[in-house]
Amino acid sequence: MGNMQMGNIKMPCPAIIAHRGACGYLPEHTLPAVELAHTFGADYIEQDVVLTSDGVPIVLHDVTLELTTNVARLFPERHRDDGLFYAIDFTLEEIKTLNAHERTDSQGNPVFPGRYSGTGVEFKVPTLAEEIETVDRLNASSGKRTGVYVELKRPEFHEQEGVDIYHAVLDVLTAFNRLGENAETVIQCFDPETLKRFAHEGIFKGPLVQLVLTESIANWRGDFEGMHTMSGLKEVAEYAHGIGPDVNLLENMPGGPSEMVVAAKKLGLFLHPYTLRADSESIPGVNFEALHKKLFVDLEVDGAFTDFADQTRELLVHMGKIS
Ligand code: G3P
Ligand code: CA
Repeated sequence: MGNMQMGNIKMPCPAIIAHRGACGYLPEHTLPAVELAHTFGADYIEQDVVLTSDGVPIVLHDVTLELTTNVARLFPERHRDDGLFYAIDFTLEEIKTLNAHERTDSQGNPVFPGRYSGTGVEFKVPTLAEEIETVDRLNASSGKRTGVYVELKRPEFHEQEGVDIYHAVLDVLTAFNRLGENAETVIQCFDPETLKRFAHEGIFKGPLVQLVLTESIANWRGDFEGMHTMSGLKEVAEYAHGIGPDVNLLENMPGGPSEMVVAAKKLGLFLHPYTLRADSESIPGVNFEALHKKLFVDLEVDGAFTDFADQTRELLVHMGKIS
């Protein structure tokens, strides 16, 4: 495996980032999914983080609970007017009574029908602290140095709720001695203002990743269309070390690297696109293996988020990108 160096920060390259744990095989963001991702040899395991009503960072992709837990059955009255069950309205103790399950749509149908469907095991929503402790323990017992790749979800939403997810996450990273520039902890966010805060306060010294959407969204602060251009990425390069774009942003229509990819490389921003899935096409018409070739051979990205870290590892070995 190679490495890339940015100042004092050295990162594995290409980096395999286990998206929401080994979520291709077990319910996303559960500790068994983390353990499995660790055995797959991922370089990083990803955590999406939101806050509970008592201010505890938990590992959950959405700010609401109904698509990945049985909250609607256990607390049927606790939704807001929009019908959704917000994690910020529940204490950690309440959230720990929930069972987590494979992601469904709002009608209760599995989003990925071929994925885990067992019923005999109870999965729980972990705290960020529990998840980092799990990774640390697995590293200690295996001799590996798997990192954590923490996304602060919806800082604007948390601000509107009167809470500061930035400090809550920093407190956990401090407790686990994960503020340094050894690059075994990465911070990612769609919100530029939160990343600028990390950069300017300088308490966390590891890599900062600006996530990039295909288009801007109302009530989100990022000018994502601007980030597809050299001028937009110049601003990003002032506070971030890398970008995490949707894979659909990497190529122009004729097939060459997009302006964003060319600009990122010129500016020294590493590229960690999302998300590779063996059971659905992230780019229409491009299968899993072809997507790996496009990303790691043609476009020479520096890593990627994958739901199937084991299969990504196999393909990268086969391509001679890692040993
Ligand atoms: O954080 C990278 C990727 O996970 C962004 O998409 O929606 O899966 O958090 P999402
Ligand atoms: Ca994420």
